[in-house]
Amino acid sequence: MKKITLIKLCLLAIVLIACSTVYPEKNPPQLGINPVSEIVKAMTLEEKVQLLVGTNKRVKGEISEAAIRGRGAAGFTSTISRLGIPGLIMADGPAGVRLQPYFIDDKKISYNPTAWPVGISLASSWDTTLVKKVGVAFGNEVKEYGVDILLAPGMNIQRNPLNGRNFEYYSEDPVVAGYMATAFVKGIQSNGVGTSIKHFAANNQETDRDKINANISERALREIYLRGFEIAVKNANPLTVMTSYNKINGTYTAERPDLVTTILRDEWGFKNFVMSDWNGGHDVIAQMKARNNIIMPGKTSQIDEIIAAVKDGTLDIKVIDKNVEEVLNVILQTPSFKKYKYSNKPDLTAHATIARSAATECMVLLKNNNNNALPLKNGLNIALLGTASYETFIGGFGSGAVLPMYKVSVFDGLTNAGYKLTGNFKPAFSAYKTKTIVASAYAQLPEMEVSQDTIKKIATEADIAIFTIGRNSGEGGDRQVNNDFNLFEGEKTLIKNLSEAFHAQGKRLIVIVNTGGVIETASWRDFADAILLAWQPGMEAGNAIADVISGVVTPSGKLAITFPMKYEDVPSAKNFPGTPIEKPMEVNYEEGIYVGYRYYSSFNVKPSYEFGYGLSYTTFSYSGLKLSSSTFKDKITATVIITNKGKVSGKEVVQLYLSAPEKTLEKPSEELRAFAKTNLLKPGESQMITFELNPRDLASYNTDKSSWIADGGTYKVKMGASSDDIKLISEFKLTKDLVVEKAHKVLTPNIIINELKKK
Ligand code: BGC
Repeated sequence: MKKITLIKLCLLAIVLIACSTVYPEKNPPQLGINPVSEIVKAMTLEEKVQLLVGTNKRVKGEISEAAIRGRGAAGFTSTISRLGIPGLIMADGPAGVRLQPYFIDDKKISYNPTAWPVGISLASSWDTTLVKKVGVAFGNEVKEYGVDILLAPGMNIQRNPLNGRNFEYYSEDPVVAGYMATAFVKGIQSNGVGTSIKHFAANNQETDRDKINANISERALREIYLRGFEIAVKNANPLTVMTSYNKINGTYTAERPDLVTTILRDEWGFKNFVMSDWNGGHDVIAQMKARNNIIMPGKTSQIDEIIAAVKDGTLDIKVIDKNVEEVLNVILQTPSFKKYKYSNKPDLTAHATIARSAATECMVLLKNNNNNALPLKNGLNIALLGTASYETFIGGFGSGAVLPMYKVSVFDGLTNAGYKLTGNFKPAFSAYKTKTIVASAYAQLPEMEVSQDTIKKIATEADIAIFTIGRNSGEGGDRQVNNDFNLFEGEKTLIKNLSEAFHAQGKRLIVIVNTGGVIETASWRDFADAILLAWQPGMEAGNAIADVISGVVTPSGKLAITFPMKYEDVPSAKNFPGTPIEKPMEVNYEEGIYVGYRYYSSFNVKPSYEFGYGLSYTTFSYSGLKLSSSTFKDKITATVIITNKGKVSGKEVVQLYLSAPEKTLEKPSEELRAFAKTNLLKPGESQMITFELNPRDLASYNTDKSSWIADGGTYKVKMGASSDDIKLISEFKLTKDLVVEKAHKVLTPNIIINELKKK
């Protein structure tokens, strides 16, 4: 009898243990308490798929509390409260937390975060410490507004100056883009929130962005379009990556296992999750298989489609489980999971100070006659013209736009700084802006005419003229060559007339360029005594511009993108935005690796202002270039001494270009491999800058061998103030060819691309 009871008890215990691992409904495992693998095991197929398709109130499943909490944000993931899985809140974007106003009953709820300098502006600082500092403050706003993932940074390569979203992106060079993104991601994520580096990859135009097929060689992909992402993934560990709208070599990026798994995960070691761009890609099953974990913003039909594919065996449940596991591992790291009590009240005053000082570090002084047209003495009488002087562009439009509490125009900034303004132009320019209707969101505002009589009058009354050229661009469309990249005739006439009238009085004309992208400068620059490229500097625009104009801050920004003499000189001009011209579907990247300065310097095409260029109110000398060895083994160190030779304090951006020997592959004549910004150097002060070159810095991508190979031979180390202004050169040898890294044979083009060659 006793024996039977014991057996019964044992059986009961076995049943109980077995039951506890399948988790009865009443006691399911909880995220954060139980291992992720057990959460995955306990999820129903429906729950798994709900997690992998973004949600809002319309998508089936439990109403995501994130969609309610985060109204105004761009996207959400599902809440599965049974298992302790909170929904995530995702918000744009690169220049500030973007939260759209919304209504609760009749009450309008709106948040007004800091509008930071845009991406192209931040990159022109060439200062990773500064960009990280911006990221730390910006990330605090992400957290305090209750957001888990910031949909930024945008880090596509600026292949062509007409791309409407260039303002969001950093550079034509992947090393600048990669290290800027690294600094930004580290800064933002130091707050315990996530980022989404985007748009992976080759989203280099807005025209037909969701259909366009970019035909790109493996080498150009590896060396130019993927390289920045690789740097950011390996150095900053972003919590998410966002795939792009376009196709590469025939397939949507979100549907390419070779891009999203082989390269991103297997080669670069990415462990977090990938999301699609909003309604990007077409085939959700292919996206799941590629391991594009989350489909955004999510539709009920996509949930049904994925569930059906699992049920009919076309989609392996193991793929779903892996995608879910990676998402859960990220959720564990977010404020929503940690139940962070956000305040909705970040310290906007402190952040405005950081935004102002950051903007000053990003401005590029393009011209300064005799080194003294700028800075301007306090109290001068300024004639301020140009609509953008009064309606200054702080950033671009689309998902990268921000709604800050205020915007400081150039007019406000100069007034705040104590300058006197001649002629009361503000009402006229502001009214002109309000009443002039442009053809579309993408069309620029023609400049308001100012009569010759008025110009002559102000030239006698004022001490100096300032004219601001303004340009805006954004998501959903590309810029035009005429009346956008090229100036309007009216703008050119005004610049010429102002120049002549003021010069006749022995007075100067200063031009401020307030843009998110490159414009033509060669035809009008001779009329100006100084040109300050202010970019789109964020909400403190005018104050930051006044800081530089007055000399409170010495300009230290340099161009992270070439300003060509004319649009036709741009290496991708023949192949942008693609064919057929009325509705582009295909774009062939025939310029190959010769993007930006790689083209201008290799083919001796003189730009208007070259990559890396920027003046200062002081001058710097470069001396004592030393290499740690004359032969490369595992690495080589280069040191150089920078000395401030002028009369005011300033910072210098030091650039290291490498010229590699050409054996099997042709190479650009020089490539940026490292850069640094000095501290603020007092007159006479010096600083030693140290760079380290690693095997990968010597290597090019050999398509035949699917490997990064450094050719044996002599390498020239060029220490420059810009790509054209090389100050010191030294050499080292690599005794034999070095296979630095083996990669996979993937992303192969389907057509023969007629790539540009030197020989
Ligand atoms: C943009 C993304 C953005 C997303 C969410 C898309 O249209 O391309 O950059 O993050 O919308 O707003």
